[in-house]
Amino acid sequence: MNLKIAALSGDGIGPEVVLQAKKALNAIAIVFDHEFIFEDALIGAIAIEKTGNPLPEQTLNLCLNTDAVLFGTVGAVSQGPEIDIKSSPIQGLLKLRQALGLYANVRPIKPYNDLLDLSPLKRKIIEDTDFVIFREISGGSYFSEKKINEQGTIASDLCEYTENEIIRITHLAFKTAQKRKNKVTLVDKASILETSRLWRKVVKEISASYPEVAVEFLLVDYAAMQIIMNPKQFDVILTENLFGDILSDEASVITGAIGLLPSASIGNESALFEPIHGIFSEAKRKNIANPIASILSAAMLLEHFGLHLESEKVYEAVQKAIELNVVTADLNPYSKFGTNEVGDFIANYILSKDDLYFKSDNVYIGQSTIV
Ligand code: IPM
Ligand code: MN
Repeated sequence: MNLKIAALSGDGIGPEVVLQAKKALNAIAIVFDHEFIFEDALIGAIAIEKTGNPLPEQTLNLCLNTDAVLFGTVGAVSQGPEIDIKSSPIQGLLKLRQALGLYANVRPIKPYNDLLDLSPLKRKIIEDTDFVIFREISGGSYFSEKKINEQGTIASDLCEYTENEIIRITHLAFKTAQKRKNKVTLVDKASILETSRLWRKVVKEISASYPEVAVEFLLVDYAAMQIIMNPKQFDVILTENLFGDILSDEASVITGAIGLLPSASIGNESALFEPIHGIFSEAKRKNIANPIASILSAAMLLEHFGLHLESEKVYEAVQKAIELNVVTADLNPYSKFGTNEVGDFIANYILSKDDLYFKSDNVYIGQSTIV
């Protein structure tokens, strides 16, 4: 398969983790005989610095004309009120989501067995957790009208949803549940919010066309508690933009490290793949950032194009890195491996083709892992 991929590495640790995802994809292209062509473009604070715009036209045009976007992270070191909301670096990502028509941000939560003790939650609670969050990302308070009065003393963020915005992601969530454990949980605040009541109505109606899928409605405060008290009960969690943003960071606690979590943002014509973590500027260029979330985002990219064997190979390589403790310090404080070494190990594992010839011992003495 030929794929043209826009690589938007952005700010903070974005460039170094996206580089590792590219290495993994290049290894996949070699082993499975595909052609993946990457084109780099600016976004976020670095784009503001170079062009004055967090989403330069050139970047947007590239993304509109590629098969997929591999995204890093964007943001300014400070995210407080001193930064104008309309021209902040994260607007690059928000505008891109909107311009590409991305509406469903898919965030799988499944801890690795070897890392269960990393989580502050008890092993027996998190073991065998396997759910996926479908977060709506085109509407809600992120994109509805924002106001602040002249004196700067009264502010408001409207939260608006149209029926159609709810319908399209709901179908996607139910279709995914059919391939998983046949359960959809809508998380909302229907006791208070009109938008939530609309979500409930639409989801109830749509659920009738998926009779084999159980549907459940949870208020967001209760859901936040259930996610860490009994995460095994969930299969597909469907929710609006802001709730999904908050709950997915919370859910990352189950996996022990936010640096492990990938996501896919799906639209009708475009798709973007990005880690859920932020810029982590303290770690920038120190070779300590965990590249796994970015590498797993690349695996989701492969899956999106139906390249299942290929994505499996990436998952297997990541699993191997974790099993052999070839991980960054967030996963193992005594680790001598950095971002690059983890990325190299994973790419080499993919290239080595046959597990039998993969000499894991070599990893520890820094030799090539390809025999
Ligand atoms: C995320 C991020 C973004 C969001 C920011 C960077 C705009 O936190 O993808 O979760 O809030 O959607
Ligand atoms: Mn977030």
